[in-house]
Parts: sequence; structure tokens; C-alpha cells
Amino acid sequence: MGSGAPAIVTGGAGFIGSTLADALVADGREVHVIDDLSTGHLRNVPSEAFLHEVDIRDGAAMADIAERAGAPVIFHLAAQADVRKAIADPAFDADVNIAGTLAILEASRVNNARVVFAATGGGSYGEYPGLAIPTPENAEPRPMSHYGQSKLAGEGYCGLYGRLYGIATTRLRLGNVYGPRQDPHGEAGVVAIFSGRIIDGEPVTVFGDGLQTRDYVYVDDVVDAFLRAESGPDDLTANIGTGREVSVLDLARILGAPDPTFAPARTGELQRSCLDASRAAEVLGWTAAVAVDDGLPRTLEAIREARSA
Ligand SMILES: NC(=O)c1ccc[n+]([C@@H]2O[C@H](COP(=O)([O-])OP(=O)(O)OC[C@H]3O[C@@H](n4cnc5c(N)ncnc54)[C@H](O)[C@@H]3O)[C@@H](O)[C@H]2O)c1
Repeated sequence: MGSGAPAIVTGGAGFIGSTLADALVADGREVHVIDDLSTGHLRNVPSEAFLHEVDIRDGAAMADIAERAGAPVIFHLAAQADVRKAIADPAFDADVNIAGTLAILEASRVNNARVVFAATGGGSYGEYPGLAIPTPENAEPRPMSHYGQSKLAGEGYCGLYGRLYGIATTRLRLGNVYGPRQDPHGEAGVVAIFSGRIIDGEPVTVFGDGLQTRDYVYVDDVVDAFLRAESGPDDLTANIGTGREVSVLDLARILGAPDPTFAPARTGELQRSCLDASRAAEVLGWTAAVAVDDGLPRTLEAIREARSA
């Protein structure tokens, strides 16, 4: 599928971005990672990639890297991706996720590069009476967090750059992404938290009744979606999820956690979130290949190995 051309990956030291950078490098591509290492790690960046350690909000630096890299595609994954941090500091969240995305879109104009944007499904749709579950892309987004709103604004600017300048953009609305390298702060952080507790021989704590559901999608499947988006239509919003609701109690069971302890529900948490990814199947030929029954044990083992290394 690779075009052989250079590629820019913002957030390429993070969980999903570094897994994508690995896949691009394995495909023989020249990869430019842009990451300020605020939550990402140097150890995640493939040694073959060029690392530009800079903040995406630095517009001049973004344009300069775009010019030097000459890449026809920018995979834009750098973000303030922590829902709790967004609530604590909404202005910072908006600055990184909106002003940062604007700087990337401006930089895309240097080479008329395609931008593939990591948007959020659950974060942006929110939860309200009448919302279809699994949720299709034409559902009205009503975010329940600053993070969901700032990511949605980023999507809006992607559309604008298409209309105004003809920039091709794909907005991939991701489910709750899990897999090796994930940390406890992302949208599927519970997988890393539970894994850590299990490895330490400690009981896991479930907030609320544990029946709240999410659409857990394995990171390799998400990377596959990004790669397909590169040769997909020029203007696309697509959900990337499994269409399967998995509860917190299911998660604990599949990971093999002993009986959980329960704590009061956390305010503002969605009860149900699940994505209808039929558009991605039709338009990108994408479906999730890894079921949670496989992906969760794989993730637990990877976290165990990383901790003993
Ligand atoms: N993990 C999920 O479940 C999930 C779900 C939906 C959407 N997303 C989106 O996918 C993307 C990647 O998420 P992730 O889970 O890999 O998060 P992550 O925190 O592991 O990766 C984000 C990366 O961006 C970098 N970064 C942050 N601010 C930056 C800035 N101002 N300048 C340069 N680099 C900066 C960080 O250092 C980090 O390496 C994000 O855009 C996130 O919103 C993630």
C-alpha cells in the first residue's frame, strides 16, 4: 500500500503515532516525526526516523519541516489527549488541539500535503438520549469534555482547509485505542491501569457498576486505517472502531483480573460508547482484524515485558 514517499508523523513518539511510524519505516518510507516529547518517549521513535523535537504550535517550524521533508502526507496525531488534563486546563487543551492543528494545516499548504487527522469518536459524539449506538458519522456530535470539543474543532478546520485551499483531509474518529506502549492517560487508559494492577498482583478497582461500555480497538488496526486513509478519498470522516461494546467488567474478565473492588462512579463519564465503522469498511476497505479476546492478552503480555525490561 505504501507510496514510497516521505511521510510526516506528528505525535510520533506517542502510543499510536510511534506504532504508525514503525509501520511506515518497515514499508521503507522516510519518516519525519514531530513531537515535543511532552507525553511521548524518545524510546518509542524508530531509530530510522528523523525526530524533530518541537511544539506543533510553532507555525514557522512546522512550515520549515514540511518544506525540508517534502512529504505528500502528514499524519497528525500530536495532541493534548488527556481528558482530565483538559478539564483542569481547558485553555491549554484548546491551544494544543486547535492552534496546533491549525499550524499543521498551514504547513500542509507548503506541499499541498494530505492531512490524516486523529479525531475521537466517543469524545466528540458524547452521549445523549436518542444517540444511535453503534454511532454512525452522521450523528450530531455533542462532546461531554473540553478534549472532545477541541478535537472536533480540529476536524472542522480540516474541512475548512479542504474548501478554502483544496487540502485533502481524512478525519479518523477513533474508538478507545489499546495495545502495547499505551499509557494510563489515554482514552483506553483503563487497559494499562488494569494490566499494571494484575502484574503487581493487586485487585483492580472498578468505578461505578462496571457496566459502562467502550469500543476498544487494537492499535495495529488503527495504524492500518491511517495507512489506508493515505490513498482514500480527499474528504472523509470515518469512524474507526469494532462496533462491539465491551464493559469494564468484560475487560477485567478477559484480562484475567481477580474479583474487582468497586468505587463510586466518576462524574462526567459516558455510560456507553461504540462506533459504527461501516463507512470505513465501504470506503477504505477497513475492518478491525483483532478482537479484544486476542488483543487484550497480547497487551497485558507486552506491558509485562516492558516492565521487566
Ligand atoms: N488513545 C486513544 O484511545 C485515542 C482515541 C481517540 C483519538 N486519539 C487521538 O490519537 C492521537 C494519539 O493519541 P495517543 O493515545 O497516541 O496519545 P499520546 O499522548 O501517546 O501521543 C501524543 C503525542 O503527541 C505529543 N505532543 C503532545 N503535545 C504536543 C505538542 N504541542 N507538540 C508536539 N508534540 C506534542 C506527545 O509528546 C505524544 O508523543 C491523539 O491525537 C489523540 O487525541 C486517541
